[in-house]
Amino acid sequence: METVAGGNFTKLQQQLQQQKKQKWFLLLIASLLISTLLILLTVTFSSGGNNSASTTQLLFRSYRRRQQQDRSSPRFVESKLAKPETSAGKLPRLAYLISGSAGDGVNLKRALKALYHPRNQYVVHLDLEAPVEERLELIRWVKEDEKVFQEVGNVRAVVRSNLVTYRGPTMVSNTLHAAAILLRDGGEWDWFINLSASDYPLVTQDGLELESLDCLMGPVTDLLHTLSSIPRDLNFIEHTSDIGWKEDQRARPVIIDPGLYSLQKSDVYWVTEKRSVPTAYRLFTAGSAWMMLSRPFVEYSLWGWDNLPRIVLMYYANFLSSPEGYFHTVICNAEEFKNTTVNHDLHFISWDNPPKQHPHFLTAEDYQRMVDSNAPFARKFGKNDPVLDRIDSELLGVSADGFVHGGWFSKTVKANSTELKPGNGARRVKNLISGLLSAEGFRTSHCI
Ligand SMILES: *[C@@H]1O[C@H](CO)[C@@H](O)[C@H](O)[C@H]1NC(C)=O
Ligand SMILES: *[C@@H]1O[C@H](CO)[C@@H](O)[C@H](O)[C@H]1NC(C)=O
Ligand SMILES: *[C@@H]1O[C@H](CO)[C@@H](O)[C@H](O)[C@H]1NC(C)=O
Repeated sequence: METVAGGNFTKLQQQLQQQKKQKWFLLLIASLLISTLLILLTVTFSSGGNNSASTTQLLFRSYRRRQQQDRSSPRFVESKLAKPETSAGKLPRLAYLISGSAGDGVNLKRALKALYHPRNQYVVHLDLEAPVEERLELIRWVKEDEKVFQEVGNVRAVVRSNLVTYRGPTMVSNTLHAAAILLRDGGEWDWFINLSASDYPLVTQDGLELESLDCLMGPVTDLLHTLSSIPRDLNFIEHTSDIGWKEDQRARPVIIDPGLYSLQKSDVYWVTEKRSVPTAYRLFTAGSAWMMLSRPFVEYSLWGWDNLPRIVLMYYANFLSSPEGYFHTVICNAEEFKNTTVNHDLHFISWDNPPKQHPHFLTAEDYQRMVDSNAPFARKFGKNDPVLDRIDSELLGVSADGFVHGGWFSKTVKANSTELKPGNGARRVKNLISGLLSAEGFRTSHCI
């Protein structure tokens, strides 16, 4: 054994020496080449008349010039892709997702009708937990039963339902799915609003058919009208970087959502390892998973011309209650978008004190606080709770057929209707939004 090893050793030494010799030779050739080049360069430049500039100075100058060019024109292709324009039409259009689960069909239909306006776009979705019959029923209702929907063609039901795990990332992927459908199929729209079947509007889209209110056009407006006077790139999303207890309860634990790979629904589970808080971006969070996002931001999130939305999405795949952080973290870490945030979710939600896992169901007792909140939406409501009837008659003016007959509704549906009739509840949204936009420090307090 030893001799073999010894023999190998001397062989290796010989090889090494040979390699060293070769290296020396190569170095010699290289240095010869470089010095010839340098001499050539000096001769060329000095004969060009510029005697004072040495070769090194020249080289250095051209390097500096290149650096300056780099600073003026960005080198990365994505920074040349401009932020998409917002639409310029007189009245905005909204794109709604209304999502529900088993047993939510009735609520979902009622909310959709109360929210319906031909200018808007709608996606409805019942998740895989809802029985097939219930899902089919909803699809049939959208496609066949409601004549208005076919006439205008702005309501679509998701046929391939998603498995959605409560508190899991599948909730976010479901929202992104609907937003993608609306981007591809929904034509022009300005804001994306994510609702569940237990949400309900507190103002009309269009307005009540009250002739006496016609003279009040102007400061008194409904949701579409109120939104027509504000910049279309604003994003209404409650957020804070003060994650507090969520650092230990949310950011460090790692969860797995079986909905990402399983056919059967089951709860999220925890991995024993913990991870540290991100340093590549700052985490933002909110108590609310509800928001109204501008079209440019939805395009940015889905089409990903910057990698941030994708990276953050993958990070949130293992984050408990990701709907309360994903869009918040993306928007607040995107320089182009963070100044477009308005720190409000446009919802009235009532938490118990101390807060429980779910907000409490709203009833007649909450009615006045709902109205006083000036919010355009509230949640959550039990199935056909009597307070919904009160909202229908006092705030929305819902007709017997379940629709709010605004300016669009005459003998024939005017799909491109720009005739709006202001409703009496509309002053409230106007108050809320103008209050938010004129609040002290609004311009300087985004994403803090
Ligand atoms: C969107 O809507 C659904 C309602 O089905 C909700 O559960 C979810 O958390 C919402 N938010 C986001 C960011 O997906
Ligand atoms: C509504 O407007 C769109 C685009 O402006 C147009 O293509 C469509 O035909 C119009 N529909 C009606 C019913 O006027
Ligand atoms: C956002 O607002 C801050 C504070 O007013 C300002 O310094 C910054 O330049 C703005 N960013 C963009 C992209 O407009």
